[in-house]
Amino acid sequence: MTFKKAILCIGAGYVGGPTMALIAFKCPQYKVTVVDIDPKRIAQWKSDNLPIYEPGLDEIVKATRGRNLFFSTEIEREIKESDIIFVSVNTPTKMFGAGSGMAADLQYWEKTARQIREYAESKKIIVEKSTLPVKTALAMERILTSTENEVHFEVLSNPEFLAEGTAIKDLENPDRVLIGSRETPSGLKARDELIEIYANWVPKERIITSNVWSSELSKLVANAFLAQRISSINSITALCEKTDADILEVAQAVGMDSRVGSKFLNASVGFGGSCFKKDILNLVYLCRHYGLNEVADYWEGVVRINNYQKDRFILNMLSAMFNTLAGKKICLFGFSYKANTGDTRESPAIFIARKLIEEKAELVITDPKALNNAMIDLNGIDGKVSYVEDPYEASSGCDAIAVMTEWEIYANLDFKKIYKSMAKPAFIFDGRNILDHKRLYEIGFNVFPIGKPALTHF
Ligand code: UDX
Repeated sequence: MTFKKAILCIGAGYVGGPTMALIAFKCPQYKVTVVDIDPKRIAQWKSDNLPIYEPGLDEIVKATRGRNLFFSTEIEREIKESDIIFVSVNTPTKMFGAGSGMAADLQYWEKTARQIREYAESKKIIVEKSTLPVKTALAMERILTSTENEVHFEVLSNPEFLAEGTAIKDLENPDRVLIGSRETPSGLKARDELIEIYANWVPKERIITSNVWSSELSKLVANAFLAQRISSINSITALCEKTDADILEVAQAVGMDSRVGSKFLNASVGFGGSCFKKDILNLVYLCRHYGLNEVADYWEGVVRINNYQKDRFILNMLSAMFNTLAGKKICLFGFSYKANTGDTRESPAIFIARKLIEEKAELVITDPKALNNAMIDLNGIDGKVSYVEDPYEASSGCDAIAVMTEWEIYANLDFKKIYKSMAKPAFIFDGRNILDHKRLYEIGFNVFPIGKPALTHF
């Protein structure tokens, strides 16, 4: 079969894999190939055991693999044969040199740009999918045009807004698709080619266009705004706990103002995940780079409140449990950074677990999907930690339960049975406000929600 165009994606990760699978599914007229430098990862994409779990992904890959979706490690050949190249390599926080701990590490991204320059023999559209600092496309253009190679490259920005656990749903039905381009004739032509791909399933009014820099910046700002909402509501939990106000009631009252909106106002022990902290620090670094210290301080506050919330959680546990956790057995309900994923990157549970170990507590960790990652995260930690899949067995004999992840199963456990098996007095610290606090109190627990009055028997 001859295809209309060949799309290549460099980087078979959390964004590249599902996005390309969906493009292949919705656009059978395009040939879509995903390459990665890691042969193990490519082998997994070719197998029945995909490297990531996302509801609906298996079915889409099954329907398209070998038809118009291909996985390969032959980067050189695929660059030559492609018309449109999505760059979806990782841009983690840089951990060395200038900007360490703040700026984005662009080494993989730059290597990719150089590879494209070296192997391209015909004109290409390059699409930035990775989250990048604003003005990165300019650096990309400079690298691509810095040799004798006469090939024309047009660089577009097309950030991805999908969330883990709902990737396929988000891709199939996006709030918006954003495409940033140069306003030159070739820039606009390239933009239209990308619009043509998305228009196969996304309504035209949801495909928006902008200049390249607005597009790059919008991705960072979108994540910063989302994280800011969580830090905003979390900051108020501290005040609620001092004043007998209830954060659920406050969030409802505030969120019903249609200008504010009700989503993303769930108070928690803190946000986690691979994006929020990384992208905000990236934004902060950019602002400082341009000498905008007030703006940088403002956004840094979002991360500061998130750290404060995690610190506060530990201090609340300490003070509730008579100022000592040494030798006490504490069960963490959940370890992933949110429900319905085994991903633990930047999970607040990692921080809480480390702090509890510092307090010389003994830990039992339970989670339906994240125990393997938890073991890796806490590998080498100097303390007593065990990993138990069954929450009843995990909490048996413990002094306290701390809910770290909003897994639905935890709300539906038999807490009478759990209470019976625990040491007394028994404590529950609900870091996600998912349990029925009044009922737990009636069973006999001392209950400490987030941003709500504690219910104690003392
Ligand atoms: C996020 C963005 O939502 C997505 O658009 C972007 O492309 C990548 O980053 P993700 O990290 O997958 O996606 O998860 P998300 O569902 O946004 O949750 C992030 C964290 O915030 C989780 O730890 C979650 O538990 C926490 N959270 C979320 C809250 O504490 N309260 C809320 O109200 C919502």
